[in-house]
Amino acid sequence: MGQRLGVNVDHVATLRQARRATYPDPVTAAALAELAGAEQITIHLREDRRHIQDRDLRLLRETVQTVLNLEMAATQEMVKVAYEHKPDTATLVPERREELTTEGGLDVANQRDALARVVKSLRDGDIAVSLFIDPDLDQVRAAHKANAQRVELHTGRYCEARDPRERDRELARILDAAKAASKLGLGVAAGHGLNYDNVRPIARILEIDELNIGHGIVSRAVLVGFERAVREMVELMRNPR
Ligand code: PXP
Repeated sequence: MGQRLGVNVDHVATLRQARRATYPDPVTAAALAELAGAEQITIHLREDRRHIQDRDLRLLRETVQTVLNLEMAATQEMVKVAYEHKPDTATLVPERREELTTEGGLDVANQRDALARVVKSLRDGDIAVSLFIDPDLDQVRAAHKANAQRVELHTGRYCEARDPRERDRELARILDAAKAASKLGLGVAAGHGLNYDNVRPIARILEIDELNIGHGIVSRAVLVGFERAVREMVELMRNPR
């Protein structure tokens, strides 16, 4: 069985919010992603609502045909939002207002009781819970003890490593963490920074059943679609009637 692709459509919303416009709509992007073979749609409803809006979550809950995965901060306010909209899964992520994107994994080992309470609230509402953690054995064990059903391993350091030896080291950490998590009965996802150049070694790890990819796919879409978009505008201008 291969890995399922979760497409993160946050960046489509970022483009829309840059103009406070009504397009491009992440809801449309999600439908296209599913038509193309995505088996999950992932969104991060941030506290500051910088990209995905409550309206997007509401509409995606109605329209997503596969699995809707909501990335969220482990706060009571977000638990309320999750209860209202009932995503299939919630991935708890650390969230700081000033960060550009999620910068590191959750430190589950140091806030296990608080996280365990949030995990329980969500699970009581029939929402499966994943914890986004660095590929670290202590964090894997802590996630298991916090009663999460899944973990998502942060691949950012692997993706950013320029030195091949460092990259191999990071890959080995991901492999070890994936094996340990799988042995404990946890489902294992991975994500952050994955793109067309670096995804293969991660896609080969059998213990990982899901990859969440946003920036790489949306960036590729902008470029592979650019020529066609310009052609269509030139055509319209040449034949304005
Ligand atoms: N997984 C998690 C938990 C994330 O927070 C993000 C970024 O929102 C991603 C995956 C996707 O990362 P990227 O946009 O770099 O593909």
